[in-house]
Parts: sequence; C-alpha cells; structure tokens
Amino acid sequence: MPKSPIRIVILVGTHGRGSNMMNLIDACREGEIPGQVVGVISPSSESPALLRAASAGVATLVVPAGDRHSERLLEGIQSFDPDLITLAGYMKRLDEAIVGKYPGRIMNIHPALIPSFCGKGMYGHHVHEAVLEAGVRYSGCTVHFVDEGYDTGPIILQTVVPVEQDDTPDTLAARVLQQEHATYRQAVKLFAEGRLQIVGHRVRILPA
Ligand code: GRF
Repeated sequence: MPKSPIRIVILVGTHGRGSNMMNLIDACREGEIPGQVVGVISPSSESPALLRAASAGVATLVVPAGDRHSERLLEGIQSFDPDLITLAGYMKRLDEAIVGKYPGRIMNIHPALIPSFCGKGMYGHHVHEAVLEAGVRYSGCTVHFVDEGYDTGPIILQTVVPVEQDDTPDTLAARVLQQEHATYRQAVKLFAEGRLQIVGHRVRILPA
C-alpha cells in the first residue's frame, strides 16, 4: 500500500498540450486522487504543457534531449522522490535504467485500445488516422504500466469509444480525449489507494 497522499511526477512532451497533465493536477487538488503532483518534467522549456504546469504553481524541470539524457532524466525524476510517474504525451521510450528503478510505478495513457493501433510511431493523429483507415467500429483509450517496450506493459484500464460514420481524425481524437481524462484519473486513483496488483502480465484491481 503506497503512503498517502502519493507523490506524482508527470512527464510531458515537447509539443504537449497538457490536458491529461492538468486533469491529474486538478483531480489531486479536488481530492479525487489521494495524491499530489510534485513535479512536471519536459524535454523543452517551450512546451505548452510545462508552461501550464508552471502557471498552475507546480514545480517544473526541463531535461533536454542530448548527451546522457536518460541519466539526467533519472536524476530529475529522483529529485522529486515520486511514488508514481505518469506519462502524459511524453513520446520517448524510457530506458531500462528508469523502468527498472520504478517497477510497477510508471503509467502511460494511449489513445487507442492496446494491443491495436500502438507501438513505435503510433502517436497523436497517426493513431486516429490508422483507426479510421482500418474501418473498426470502436476505438478508445488505454492506461497501462510502462515497461521497456512501446505500449507493451500490463494494461490497467481501457474505455471504449464508438467510431462514428463521419468521423475525422480530429473528431475521433476529441471523443477519445474526453474518456482519456476520466480513465487516467480512475487509474491513478486506484494506484494511490493501493488497489493495483500486477500478476504476470495482468493487472488485478483489488476491492476497496
Ligand atoms: C493524448 O492523446 C495521450 O493519449 C497521448 O498523448 C496525448 C497527450 O495529450 N499519449 P495532452 O497533452 O494530454 O492533451
């Protein structure tokens, strides 16, 4: 059982809007998640998400790409002493040194139903374009634990969203994004309550 309230660090991308990040910050402040977002890390000081975090009064840290990136990222993460690391629009794969340091304590959200429409290169509008091209009737979002692969870690929660006849990648992305926010809150809340147990590649949700 993690100590409560848990300390959460959020990793955002260079071009991230930060809607999932803000959603988690708000859920903690509203008391829905027994946690606190103690820091937001981005590869760029220009990242819209990072600027939003700073104006919301959350500590921010920039760890630019380049030499010893992974090592510096690990140092940055450790400086916040987190219980949980959440990725919200962070595009890079985390290397073994980071994943190995926080087993079962790193989460990501993906805007499709894993194991479909995921993996290397499947991010942002690419995902929704591929979904529409495939002609599937349903898409959705997935919150999963992070391992060394691309979108391959144990699945925590999924929410299904219908694909409408006249959808464009943008309309589908907007419908999925709404569910991303609700699903990510729920997954982080379950973690903070100590109710997620990884068994093999499956995640058991323990009763309250
Ligand atoms: C979301 O669609 C998320 O699923 C994906 O990146 C996007 C980030 O959006 N990993 P935002 O910056 O949280 O608004």
